[in-house]
Amino acid sequence: MLANNEPAGGRSRLREVSLAGSLLPWYDRHARDLPWRTGPHARARGIRPDPYHVWLSEIMLQQTTVATVKAYFERFTTRWPNITSLAAAEDADVMAAWAGLGYYARARNLLKCARAVAERGGFPQSEEELRDLPGIGPYTAAAIAAIAFDRQAGVMDGNVERVIARFHAIDTPLPGAKRSLKALVDAQTPATRPGDYAQAVMDLGATICSPKNPACGICPAMQNCAGRARGIAADLPVKAPKAAKPTRLGLAYLVRRQDGAWLLETRPPKGLLGGMLGWPSTEWSGDMPPDAPPLVADWQDPQLEVRHTFTHFHLRLALRIAQVPMAAAPIRGSFRPKAEFRPGDLPTLMRKAYDLAAPILLRD
Ligand code: ADE
Repeated sequence: MLANNEPAGGRSRLREVSLAGSLLPWYDRHARDLPWRTGPHARARGIRPDPYHVWLSEIMLQQTTVATVKAYFERFTTRWPNITSLAAAEDADVMAAWAGLGYYARARNLLKCARAVAERGGFPQSEEELRDLPGIGPYTAAAIAAIAFDRQAGVMDGNVERVIARFHAIDTPLPGAKRSLKALVDAQTPATRPGDYAQAVMDLGATICSPKNPACGICPAMQNCAGRARGIAADLPVKAPKAAKPTRLGLAYLVRRQDGAWLLETRPPKGLLGGMLGWPSTEWSGDMPPDAPPLVADWQDPQLEVRHTFTHFHLRLALRIAQVPMAAAPIRGSFRPKAEFRPGDLPTLMRKAYDLAAPILLRD
């Protein structure tokens, strides 16, 4: 729905022109300095961003904040400076390097995609071909096409959604409004500098057009913003209420052997935390599942519980701990020698369990 029932080609067309027209000069002065970016001044001299950097950052930035991604991006590109070196990496090394970023299917697809791209000799440039690669959905394909290859692709993430909903005063609730917002994003994306434009909208959303208390008074697009004109910018976008998340329960078993080795298992490739290292655990279900210890031991209940939230549920994972002799024979998992165990290689849930249990196990 357009504000004031405007005809599509009327005042909203003016806004199309003016959003890029006001955001690009603003971006030239205020673009955030991010490690995967080629700044506007370098780009003006014809220096293009590295598609490998653009792809890697876009995958990392899905569901993850810029602040968190920066350090991971630097570490990945130092260790694997190009697509060929990443394609040749060991799966376990990449999964360990991804630990803490969450949404681990991204890391498995990252490797698959790196190998497919290395095989074909580089990234394709069109949105359609990019979308055929593992882990690249419509958003990421558009972002890479626009940012790395200057293709006129409409890029819409959460920040862009908010900016556009406000600029056009769209008050249809999300997620229902997504299609009409995407149509507006497509219509507004300019033929020149579409990648800078996409990043300018993202930066505006992350700084001035923030979810709460937008700083409309200093916004470069204030003069043409319908949301501001109607005094409703801060209330947009309207969101349909989310269903409450259920809670699941489970047990995790932390075992330390006499020589300091830890009992760990690599989780099955499909499913939650797939392919990641973790403590053996029961299923996670609505009712507390039956005890399923990975070896015979004198189990202790330290009365500790990790709480963690996944996309679709909250998890309460109670801990069981044991110290075992050298002869202990696990039925699941394998002992990882002390010198090869780095808590930082664990996904956050498993790391939280370690942080709670380690003081007890290392004390005894
Ligand atoms: N979020 C997703 N992609 C981004 C980018 N290229 N710059 C800033 N924020 C982003």
